[in-house]
Amino acid sequence: MAAIFNINAQDKSYLDKKKPIEERINILMKQMTLEEKVGQMNQYNGFWDVTGPAPTGGSAEEKYKNIKKGLVGSMLSVRGVKEVKAVQKIAVEETRLGIPLIIGFDVIHGYKTLSPIPLAESSSWDMKAIEKSAEVAASEAAASGINWTFGPMMDISRDARWGRVMEGAGEDPYLGAQVAVARVKGFQGDNTFRSPLRIAATAKHFAAYGFVDAGLEYSASEVNRNILYNQVLPPFKAAVDTGIRSIMTSFNTIDGIPATANQMLLRETLKNKWGFNGFVVSDWASVREMIYWGYSPDEKSAAKSAVEAGTDMDMEGGIFVPHLVSLVQNGQVKESLVDDAVRRILRVKFELGLFDDPYRFLDEKREKEVIGSKANRDAVLDMAKKSIVLLKNEKQLLPLKKEGQKILLLGDLAASKNSPLGSWRIASDNNTAVSVLEGMQKYKGNSLKYEKGIALTQEEPTFLTEVQYNTTNREGLEAAKQAAKDADVIVMVLGEHGFSSGEARSRTQIDLPGLQQEFLEEIYKINPNIVLVLNNGRPLAISWAAEHIPAIVEAWQLGTETGNAVAQVLFGDYNPSGKLTMSFPRNVGQIPIYYNHYSTGRFTNKDGNVFWSHYSDVDKTPLYPFGYGLSYSKFEYSAPKVNKKTFAKGEKVEVTVTVKNTGIYAGKEVVQLYVKDDFASVVRPVKELKGFEMVDLQPNESKTLTFSLGEKELGFYNQDGKFVVEPGTFKIMIGGNSADVQELTIELL
Ligand code: BGC
Repeated sequence: MAAIFNINAQDKSYLDKKKPIEERINILMKQMTLEEKVGQMNQYNGFWDVTGPAPTGGSAEEKYKNIKKGLVGSMLSVRGVKEVKAVQKIAVEETRLGIPLIIGFDVIHGYKTLSPIPLAESSSWDMKAIEKSAEVAASEAAASGINWTFGPMMDISRDARWGRVMEGAGEDPYLGAQVAVARVKGFQGDNTFRSPLRIAATAKHFAAYGFVDAGLEYSASEVNRNILYNQVLPPFKAAVDTGIRSIMTSFNTIDGIPATANQMLLRETLKNKWGFNGFVVSDWASVREMIYWGYSPDEKSAAKSAVEAGTDMDMEGGIFVPHLVSLVQNGQVKESLVDDAVRRILRVKFELGLFDDPYRFLDEKREKEVIGSKANRDAVLDMAKKSIVLLKNEKQLLPLKKEGQKILLLGDLAASKNSPLGSWRIASDNNTAVSVLEGMQKYKGNSLKYEKGIALTQEEPTFLTEVQYNTTNREGLEAAKQAAKDADVIVMVLGEHGFSSGEARSRTQIDLPGLQQEFLEEIYKINPNIVLVLNNGRPLAISWAAEHIPAIVEAWQLGTETGNAVAQVLFGDYNPSGKLTMSFPRNVGQIPIYYNHYSTGRFTNKDGNVFWSHYSDVDKTPLYPFGYGLSYSKFEYSAPKVNKKTFAKGEKVEVTVTVKNTGIYAGKEVVQLYVKDDFASVVRPVKELKGFEMVDLQPNESKTLTFSLGEKELGFYNQDGKFVVEPGTFKIMIGGNSADVQELTIELL
């Protein structure tokens, strides 16, 4: 292999595969100049702007020059075998030590073949399918020359105004941790990277970005320790325990300190306490942005704070290279900190096999075979079906009949091949999703009537532009109304455009945007037999629809296979099994709304007067709670039982429940277990998810499930970040969603 490297090093034995990685790192680092070390900590964007102003700017030529000087450790957003090879070749063949670049990319919900948006995937509660979806994404990205993804995003969030809720797994840390683990496994496989189709993953954004004030993008997140330890950090800890190879800092502050300079988070918690041995990358220019936060007076000080806190790589900030060398030489930053950062980055490069074969991800034949393969499309279709949540089904409108029913399909989104691709789809081509129209035509052919009705947007938005909803043009309404008169059932696809959620897509109104509410009500007046299919990247406030429309299907943005998945659910070839992972509010004023809130001293209306915890204008409960989702079948739960009512520390309690399918369709149900610690040294939430299982039942079939509860499920992190289990009584609750449970009490002695 040494032949492809063109190395000028005295001791080339770091290329010796047989030596242990740590030894290879030592051999290499001994020969690196301080400039070369700092170069490893520098990441450049590719040759176009992605998610922000590009401070390093620079022409491709300039970037090539710096790679050649050994001043670049990584590139992001360079993709495709040919393009990646061009930069990798310079690093490997034209630098003194031939250190390969690690190539990063935002592989968030698929690469070219797109999966549902992550929030949708989490609604499947199906960890195998989620793992498979990440595996497909990894394989396509890897085949395109990428070896590191900036995902999974695991920010717990309770605020649907924030556009990035679409990237996460919702509001719950227990489910969030499981989803995080599934995704890490999907991306990284068994962590050996022997397969050239697995890539290093990134847990982001560390931490508490999901708690941005008022859902406003890039604002502060001042969570307290209790929330930090019990809500925000569990998915990250789970990802670290699964062997994730990198962590990305977040844009927000915590305790007034930007996450990128946060010693408590990065150095103390992540690296020291959790023993994380991968590397930390800043978010895009977040080292530089500490100046704009009013935290770092200048670039030098930003570099110093970031490195001291434990940020190992500067993404597109252009701060480390110009300043770190002199900071170390002047004794202002310890060289050992730079060494630690470089060691971590090199470790991951060695683990990825880049020193054994820097071109192992660069095979044009593989690129053609893997990307967009039939197997990948099948996997994302499977994921898409499982992500759909049935919110309402009255008058037995669903499933639709394959024969003999006059079906009218309405809505701009129904024919869209673009919006269903969602927000993070940089490597995919526009207009490549199967539309709902196309999916339903497979069942009904030309007998399916379609009318666009009122247009959704003024023009087709892009990744970089604001979505402009149509608020004036009612063209198309009359034709839709005429067609509605004659239909047995009307399927209306309404909601947000795929570019309405995602980064920098905060909204203060989360009802149906533009003229869609009016459109829905106008059609309802003519023919109320409506199945509303929602497309959205966040919970929407749809109180009017929930009250009036007989059937509602939450279909998110489901990626490349959207139309096929929606059609299979509508026509009953897949019985919906998804459950919401974020509470749907009745209106935006209820936000933040989440199931695992505290009790209050005035929870119920005991005295019949107004002095209790409530809103005077709307019920305080969510419209649809966390964990909620229907099926075409019905499931009946027995009263749960425990094998003992009292137990000692170290013992486990077994909880059993029998679930029966009493409907006429085979179906799947996600059985959920919640726990409440009745009294503790700090107030505990009214309930917290601590177990779930999916049962697959034929009509009339029943199954008994057993959940095992121990300290892990009953404890919590106290104010010092210590995991404790306190004696006393606990309520155990089991049901098909967080609001509909049966409970019993156990006691820890
Ligand atoms: C986002 C990250 C992303 C990065 C690179 C940032 O703006 O916050 O999640 O990985 O850009 O595209």
